[in-house]
Amino acid sequence: MPINVVVVGAQWGDEGKGKIVDWLTESVQGVVRFNGGHNAGHTLVVNGKKTVVRIIPSGIMHPGVMCYIGNGAVVSPEAFLGEVDELEAAGVNAEARIRISGDCPLILPYHVKLDHARENALGDKKIGTTGRGIGPAYEDKVARRAIHVCDLLEPEMFAEKVRRNCKLINFLLTEYYKTEPVDVEKMITDTLALAPRITNKICDVSHTLNVLMAQGQQFLFEGAQGTMLDIDHGTYPFVTSSNTVAGTASPGAGVGPEKLNYILGITKAYCTRVGSGPFPTELFDEVGEELRKKGNEYGAVTGRPRRCGWFDGAALRRSVELNGLLGLAVMKLDVLDGLTTVKLGVGYECDGKRLDVMPVGAELVAKCIPIYEEFPGWSESTFGITEWDKLPENAKKYLKRLSEVAGAPLAVVSTGPDREQTILLKNPFE
Ligand code: GDP
Ligand code: IMO
Ligand code: MG
Repeated sequence: MPINVVVVGAQWGDEGKGKIVDWLTESVQGVVRFNGGHNAGHTLVVNGKKTVVRIIPSGIMHPGVMCYIGNGAVVSPEAFLGEVDELEAAGVNAEARIRISGDCPLILPYHVKLDHARENALGDKKIGTTGRGIGPAYEDKVARRAIHVCDLLEPEMFAEKVRRNCKLINFLLTEYYKTEPVDVEKMITDTLALAPRITNKICDVSHTLNVLMAQGQQFLFEGAQGTMLDIDHGTYPFVTSSNTVAGTASPGAGVGPEKLNYILGITKAYCTRVGSGPFPTELFDEVGEELRKKGNEYGAVTGRPRRCGWFDGAALRRSVELNGLLGLAVMKLDVLDGLTTVKLGVGYECDGKRLDVMPVGAELVAKCIPIYEEFPGWSESTFGITEWDKLPENAKKYLKRLSEVAGAPLAVVSTGPDREQTILLKNPFE
């Protein structure tokens, strides 16, 4: 029986999903993105060479593997084609191996403009979005006025829909946000000029996956962002505008939930977050700075410094529940090398109560004071280790306790950015 695997971020994004999806791709015939847009930045390192993909699935470095963008994702024609061109220029045959659902809502320049206007208006209450127009594009979808990838096949209808939407948007931009309107006709012309290289990749992703699965093909479903950024379950309103939890792979790709056989949650051995919002285990001291430096914790999309802190077991426990995680991939263990003490968040104190699981709602999360267990660090380097038995004893103790607190078994431990710098404990496909 073929096995399909869903890979999701178990924290606030940037856990290392790209690395693991790239690494697992050797076991599948196709990789499917099912949510988010080019707010994501997924880093793949193959033989020391780094590639960052945003909307294109992280399986693209494997020649011969098909990459699908499911209807749950939002697609900017300009950003998408820019990415295809970058890959092609680097010698990756991307153009021929990407298929896009016609039902993906488009991200157009007016979404970007609105994203910026909204953030500016929020001032110090801003969400800290990536400024890629993600929120406004999903708003259009839910408001039933989205312009879809398939609309690019009908230029007249496309233009009409853009004009219709921009009547409202330009009113908002000029009258409410007191900013410049978008040039609607230029946007239409520019987008339609890009259309042929997108429409030639349109595919009925849902049906195709179902047919290929029936023929025995295996697939990886790649989530973007992280569980704590989920629109329903994250630290709202400091979240992204889509669902990010594993179940989203079903509506976001058009496959039944019974097709999702194994759910792998990606987590760092510590914790990071970009943008605003509560982060109970955040460090403001020199240890936080050290994690940022050693872990090179700067956004792959925006270059913003990531906020750093200790591993948050209460957040991970919620993530295990929300996603139904069957295994954890613990990333960036090497970044903790050399610390005298490593702390592990095992719960919170919140309003005088002890909590084992992150509570619901950003206001409550902001009140949580982490309870830590302290572990002696390890002076040995774990960088590049590929076998569990070769890890320092103290690192193993830390990882075992991390898994116990989170409530899911360890499947993978990552000891460096490269595909090969990985310890496999449980193969998701077996
Ligand atoms: P994603 O969005 O979840 O795919 O993660 P990002 O690519 O945004 O961020 C993860 C960063 O950590 C990237 O720079 C990776 O190259 C890097 N990385 C992944 N795994 C490891 C690891 O085990 N050790 C180290 N040192 N870096 C890693
Ligand atoms: P990957 O897939 C980390 C964060 C933004 C902001 C919030 C809303 O690389 O893990 P948005 O632009 O989505 O409206 O921003 O979500 N955010 C991410 N943080 N990794 C990401 O993607 C993110 N995508 C969005 O920083 O706080
Ligand atoms: Mg990222």
